[in-house]
Amino acid sequence: MEKKFKRTLVTCALPYANGPVHIGHLAGVYVPADIYVRYLRLRGEDVLYVCGSDEHGVPITIKARQQGCSPQDIVDKYHKIIDGSFKALGINFDIYGRTSSKVHEKNAAQFFRKLYDEGKFVTRESEQYYDPEAKTFLADRYIVGTCPKCGNEGAYGDQCEKCGSTLSPEELINPHSRLSGAEPVKRKTTHWYLPLQDYEGWLREWILEGHKEWRSNVYGQVKSWLDGGLQPRAVTRDLDWGVPVPVEGAEGKVLYVWFDAPIGYISNTMELLPDSWEKWWKSPDTKLVHFIGKDNIVFHCIVFPAMLKAYGDGFILPENVPANEFLNLEGDKISTSRGWAVWAHEYVQDFPGKEDVLRYVLTANAPETKDNDFSWKEFQTRNNSELVAIFGNFVNRAVVLTHKYFEGRVPAAGELAEVDRETLAEVPALRESLEKNIENYRFREALKDAMQIARLGNKYISDSEPWKVAKTDMARTGTILNVCLQLCADLAIAFEPFTPFACERLRRMLNLNRPTARGKGPVCGPQGAASTGIASPETCAGPAVTEEGQDRLPEKVAGSASSVCWDSLGAADILPEGHQLGEAELLFEKIDDAAIQKQLDRLAEIRAQKEAEAKAELAKHVTPQKEECTFDDFGKMDIRTATVLEAERVPKTDKLLKLTIDTGIDRRVIVSGIAEYYTPEDMVGRQICILANLKPRVIKGIESKGMILMARQNDGTMRFITPQETVVNGAEIG
Ligand code: 2FM
Ligand code: ZN
Repeated sequence: MEKKFKRTLVTCALPYANGPVHIGHLAGVYVPADIYVRYLRLRGEDVLYVCGSDEHGVPITIKARQQGCSPQDIVDKYHKIIDGSFKALGINFDIYGRTSSKVHEKNAAQFFRKLYDEGKFVTRESEQYYDPEAKTFLADRYIVGTCPKCGNEGAYGDQCEKCGSTLSPEELINPHSRLSGAEPVKRKTTHWYLPLQDYEGWLREWILEGHKEWRSNVYGQVKSWLDGGLQPRAVTRDLDWGVPVPVEGAEGKVLYVWFDAPIGYISNTMELLPDSWEKWWKSPDTKLVHFIGKDNIVFHCIVFPAMLKAYGDGFILPENVPANEFLNLEGDKISTSRGWAVWAHEYVQDFPGKEDVLRYVLTANAPETKDNDFSWKEFQTRNNSELVAIFGNFVNRAVVLTHKYFEGRVPAAGELAEVDRETLAEVPALRESLEKNIENYRFREALKDAMQIARLGNKYISDSEPWKVAKTDMARTGTILNVCLQLCADLAIAFEPFTPFACERLRRMLNLNRPTARGKGPVCGPQGAASTGIASPETCAGPAVTEEGQDRLPEKVAGSASSVCWDSLGAADILPEGHQLGEAELLFEKIDDAAIQKQLDRLAEIRAQKEAEAKAELAKHVTPQKEECTFDDFGKMDIRTATVLEAERVPKTDKLLKLTIDTGIDRRVIVSGIAEYYTPEDMVGRQICILANLKPRVIKGIESKGMILMARQNDGTMRFITPQETVVNGAEIG
């Protein structure tokens, strides 16, 4: 039996305030969370929706140094930008806090102190890198040097961003401090560690036994961490930006950002509800759901729960952690440092009034089970062919025709024909599926269910042709339009979690009331869009309202004809006969090629810049000239042109191709290790250069006579050398 909860606490990963949020963040965390929260609220559930900026950590201090300002300046700037982007996209948290707040600093310090006092930490002395000139310990990110794997001179002490290798500072060649350029030295330092291994058995039971329903990516990652064995994890750092470690003698040390950030969820709740926050965090009747990206799984499923368990005091644990995979952009990984991203704050400027389009596309293509790709062409197609051509078109036809034939009043539904009944009967089933999908965090599928109602309506109106029927039978025309308008009202409800701005417009057209909250203003629509002149004051019928939810939930006005509560969805008589509609307006607008091209051009510029940088980087690393050789040495080599006649893979090898070539002097076989770079099809017919008199060798049982000349690039990849113009086979090179 599924446990029944009284309220739901939804948290979204706190974004780092060292840059704006992009579509990867939105698709991974914030849009799905927002859909979930809007849906629960439409259902009258008591929900608290918490997020905020993650304002500590080394990257923020690095950015501040780069920009010649303080870390506080950086977080102030980005906190504002991020907060603004969320609001603009209709993502309205109950609180969007900050981990640099006083409340958080106090709370995080207190959290640490309690664990410290109760002996829940162990201390360890270790050797860490220290910058003797800047007189400070260096986080791995602060150390740069040459990558031992690819030669990149700008590799960090934890990772080479060029080849993606995970590194440790010890592995870097010529390591130096990013602060002073000095060579780092090792120094002893002491830190506090949470002995995660002590919680292993408990974590296994709680997640691996108790939460088999979690998404397979989340469950799988947790399992592999647990199977790999947990280690003590440092919860403090030598740094001057963060929450100071509240222990005597810990000067110059702060809480590790991943220790303080999740406590931020609690601090932000405290800030919003100083008197009742505990109800949200310590009651078994609260369902806690963390929305995160896949890179945060270990922190939310292992580290933070272990911290809460260590703390005790009745803190609840997440009931689910729906983590998404990553979203790529135009086939490439999103990269903040390279600017390969679509930034939320730029999107809302470039596409004003199209906030819902982004929400829609990111949901339709959400990386729920695997990494997915965002492309501007798909964005355009989904807008033009789905939102405009199906949803918008249907609503427009229904409303415009009602104005034309019935002065904008909902016509009477006469006797329903079979097609009318069948059409209307599909909605409750779609509603059920939509509910199940959202409740199980399958937002893509849920959106398909909602869209199916629009498809249904579009097909119904096209097949029923009320514009033709109107020439002969006004009563039947009225019935058809009545059915269409009920479907429009269904859409206004079903799409509310996904496209709240369009639903606002749709409700205006249908003259439907929005669910209002007592005292605090609207709950279901985008903030700030409450007074849209929607007519009647009726409010939505909802389930019983609980304690704090009082001020967020719709009033109870049972049976109100123009209510748009979830329970009305599929009810066939949402709009009563004679109900006056509002003006027709466009629900969605087409996006033209020029707008898309502008975005593609921007990305092409970034790509070109990246390629130029990569080339320049390669050029820097040309291998030095070899030892001198004599003309005679060179003369010994018989280098000629040849043409590949046949090519095939050498069985059971990854790298070898067997090439049959025409050398001008004979036809022979050469086995070459180029299968990583060329397929057999690439090679057939190509003119190449060979070293013809290399002593034959038997490779994998094949006699290879000669060698194909290849250019080895500095990244290790190979290209064969081909004459610029076709020459006869066997022409000597020299
Ligand atoms: O990965 C990130 O962007 C982190 N700032 C998420 C923190 S989530 C929470 F624990 F605060
Ligand atoms: Zn590298």
